[in-house]
Amino acid sequence: LTAGPLAGRHVLVTSGPTHEPIDPVRYIANRSSGAQGTALARALAALGASVTFITGPAAAKRPEGVRVVEVETARQMLDAVTAALPADAAVFAAAVADWRMASERPSKMKKTADGALPVLEFAENPDILATVSKLTEGRPRLVVGFAAETDDVTAHATAKRARKGCDWILANDVRPETGIMGGTENAVTLITAEGAETWPRMAKDMVARRLAQRIAEELA
Ligand code: C5P
Repeated sequence: LTAGPLAGRHVLVTSGPTHEPIDPVRYIANRSSGAQGTALARALAALGASVTFITGPAAAKRPEGVRVVEVETARQMLDAVTAALPADAAVFAAAVADWRMASERPSKMKKTADGALPVLEFAENPDILATVSKLTEGRPRLVVGFAAETDDVTAHATAKRARKGCDWILANDVRPETGIMGGTENAVTLITAEGAETWPRMAKDMVARRLAQRIAEELA
């Protein structure tokens, strides 16, 4: 039996990028390393939570002591999240691709003799955070989103919290000069119904521990 303030609680964490296939050998991706989501899964497990960690194809080493579900696309991630419910809390740290191909090509795209360029047609991916936040049945008690912003961090993140319908948003300043994207440190502002709280810049591991602690207090 696990001890700790989150013992008996199920917490779901999404992490990493998604890959959206273009054809059997190509895909669209992003630079998410999965570092913050992985650190969070570890921190939640350390507080005794039963964690379902749903990850796209991320570079980060998978956390131990949690249930790991590997997915590739945004739609697979949504399916995995839905299948993992119910949960007491859900944290959406994944960098989900906003778009996928409108139709997937069954065979590899080829260059043509006349040099005609391919035109890729996109379709919008489901917003997993918004979908779960707006569930009328089986919504986790606490739904937390992330927001990567480059300007007016608090204002944009506050608007995002309202738009998505989640309880908390952890906003981070990803202006290139901060070195946060792909780095080991994070500078975040926690947006709740009560307002905005800026945390000092600290290691992503520390951000994870502090957030896990806050989640434990909220679910207590
Ligand atoms: O809208 P934006 O992508 O900036 O929102 C970021 C938050 O929404 C993150 O918590 C991310 O995991 C989540 N998200 C999602 N599904 C999407 C897009 C974003 O869960 N399709």
